[in-house]
Amino acid sequence: MTSPLPRQTQAPVITEGLNHWFGEGEARKQALYDVTLSIERGSLTVLMGPSGSGKTTLLTLMGCLRDVQDGRVCLLGSELNGADNNTLVRSRRKLGFIFQAHNLHESLTALQNVRMGLEVHGRKAMTNWREAASRVLTILGLEDRMGYLPGNLSGGQKQRVAVARVGWKPGDCFC
Ligand SMILES: Nc1ncnc2c1ncn2[C@@H]1O[C@H](COP(=O)(O)OP(=O)(O)O)[C@@H](O)[C@H]1O
Ligand SMILES: [Mg+2]
Repeated sequence: MTSPLPRQTQAPVITEGLNHWFGEGEARKQALYDVTLSIERGSLTVLMGPSGSGKTTLLTLMGCLRDVQDGRVCLLGSELNGADNNTLVRSRRKLGFIFQAHNLHESLTALQNVRMGLEVHGRKAMTNWREAASRVLTILGLEDRMGYLPGNLSGGQKQRVAVARVGWKPGDCFC
């Protein structure tokens, strides 16, 4: 048996022999079959496949949004199969999601939505949250829309707020 690679040399996302099922009894249906992949650091990876082929299921498993039933998911050095809740929360905070439907909070302004993203990433106590949130919104061309509610923004502007909400902070490669 080979010894495990040091964390920094491992691919940040690894799956091995991943299977997943939905439903119970006769309605039980397999959605993923023996998925083995690794996503290298710094790579841009596009997941393609027909509707219903399991893309979302795979992403939610890699994103700690669903429990791993069978097989291995290793995210940034943490094994997710059987992981306790603290590990899952810590792992989730290292991720950013940009949803296809922007999923902005309709009663919060653009700036407040971005703040919520920082809070979800465990940066609630960040004293300079306003500066961090303004900065990323400005980079995305929304400096004059920070106080707007999503209902008063265009589709593209909402999408950019959703990008800003991922939890970027000064010092991240993006800003
Ligand atoms: N929550 C769910 N309950 C039951 N079946 C589901 C659920 N989510 C997805 N599925 C089924 O799992 C399969 C893969 O779905 P999904 O991962 O959403 O595919 P994709 O994102 O590639 O369109 C589909 O057959 C879908 O009907
Ligand atoms: Mg999908």
